[in-house]
Amino acid sequence: VPTEANQFIKKPLSVDALQGRLQTRVFGQSLIEIHQQIDSTNNRARALGLAGAAEGALVLAETQTAGRGRRGRHWHSPPGLNLYFSLLLRPALPPDQTSFVTLAAGVGSAEAVRRLSGLGASIKWPNDVLVGERKIAGILTEMETGPGRPSFVVLGVGLNVNLQAEGLPPELTERAGSLAMAANRTWDRIEVLAVLLEELERAYQDLISGGRDRIIKRYKQFCRTIGREVRIVQGEAAWEGRALTVDDRGALVIRRSTDDRLITVNAGEIMEVRIKQGAGP
Ligand code: BTN
Repeated sequence: VPTEANQFIKKPLSVDALQGRLQTRVFGQSLIEIHQQIDSTNNRARALGLAGAAEGALVLAETQTAGRGRRGRHWHSPPGLNLYFSLLLRPALPPDQTSFVTLAAGVGSAEAVRRLSGLGASIKWPNDVLVGERKIAGILTEMETGPGRPSFVVLGVGLNVNLQAEGLPPELTERAGSLAMAANRTWDRIEVLAVLLEELERAYQDLISGGRDRIIKRYKQFCRTIGREVRIVQGEAAWEGRALTVDDRGALVIRRSTDDRLITVNAGEIMEVRIKQGAGP
């Protein structure tokens, strides 16, 4: 018998339930696929993109066998508890500006967490969504360009929803969280997904119509890395400094502690940014 506390645990995702609740214009409106198991929703969305699917096509999975994180990492994807999905986007942006889609998705995800739970969500540069010190969502955008081929972006989002601390693998126990862990209640994943898609679409539309300056401004309001002492790992090298701001290209500007030089780092060059404990602004 479902109790109030666990009524949403493992309730399956369904296309009908989502369509009945979703109030977007484009995201999830042309095509929704729900897979019980898939390698990676990003792979499937890419295949749909190559086959000519329309912007907003949505691929969801209950579990992923090869969920990918940034920089070749693995994304923990246990069945039935969380959200793993990819959206196919065809942004009317020059290719060198598609990285702003990632920043916009960070803003939209943080907005959604706030709207759902009232909790203060923040973004750890470049695009980890945190509540408190714990990462609850990750974003992986992959761009497809090529001569004679339509280019598109796959926006992949993993949001930990009903995951509990006991379900975390040892390497994640310190750093990962979920909506349920943060808010101390379980969630209807359809409700969470609908709100998340609405906020992702709003942020994306903001980027397309208002341009990157508007997204960067909102991104900075959420970014908890700014003003903190950070440790940067770049390949074999590691160095420290104070994160000063995010520039108009989305790069992190850091004053290096050894020589006070300003160093600008792009998300793609960085293995790890660690915010030093107790070093708040
Ligand atoms: C990160 O923080 O490293 C990004 C994680 C992105 C995970 C999502 S889950 C849905 C989509 N499919 C994948 O294989 N990855 C993304």
